Amino acid sequence: MKIFLDTANIEHIRHGVGLGVITGVTTNPSLVSREGKVDYRKLVQDICSVVPGPVSTEVLGQDVQTMVSEAREIAKWAENIVVKIPASLEGVEATSVLAREGIQVNFTLCFTLNQAVLGAQAGAAFISPFVGRLDDVGEDGMEVVADIVEYLDYYQLRTQVIAASIRHPQHCLMAARAGAHIATVPYQVLLQMIRHPLTDIGIERFRDDWTKVMTREGLV
Ligand code: G3P
Repeated sequence: MKIFLDTANIEHIRHGVGLGVITGVTTNPSLVSREGKVDYRKLVQDICSVVPGPVSTEVLGQDVQTMVSEAREIAKWAENIVVKIPASLEGVEATSVLAREGIQVNFTLCFTLNQAVLGAQAGAAFISPFVGRLDDVGEDGMEVVADIVEYLDYYQLRTQVIAASIRHPQHCLMAARAGAHIATVPYQVLLQMIRHPLTDIGIERFRDDWTKVMTREGLV
């Protein structure tokens, strides 16, 4: 499973890419708004220049024509741009138009297998089921991820599943078990993924034991 960062914060992205484990980024209008007053295009282009893989950027229009023209414009911003289109009826049509033009679409705000089926048939390169938001309303977000993965595998479709709206490390391991191709995680969750108290205790114990040996031998 690949790990993308779900953020528009360039410092966090630089850190994640520097770790060598972040191969893509997903943004949305809410994440961009958290970065304060920004030149949207410049911010996205900066992110694209730092990240080795796909960078998803969302359209704001809601009708087919507006979504398609926004997406065509956004697609020119960088080679690794992926345009996020919502899983509405208009979004299905916009995805079909854009996919035929070779523009990569991330079919977002996906909450059901039926939405994912239509997104995949429309030619979306990625589908993003929002796990945390489904859990929030008492549904099983990860079950939807697993269903979509199974459907894509069964029909040997090339669309990739991005487990999105990830809230904690448990979501990441469940996404991996469900066979998600990608999990897009907030920066804090990325940091939490590596943490385990036994690792910290182990590192400290090895260091202490080694210091004892060096002291005994008179080498420090
Ligand atoms: O990847 C989608 C994500 O940004 C939404 O997350 O936590 O607002 O549901 P959240």
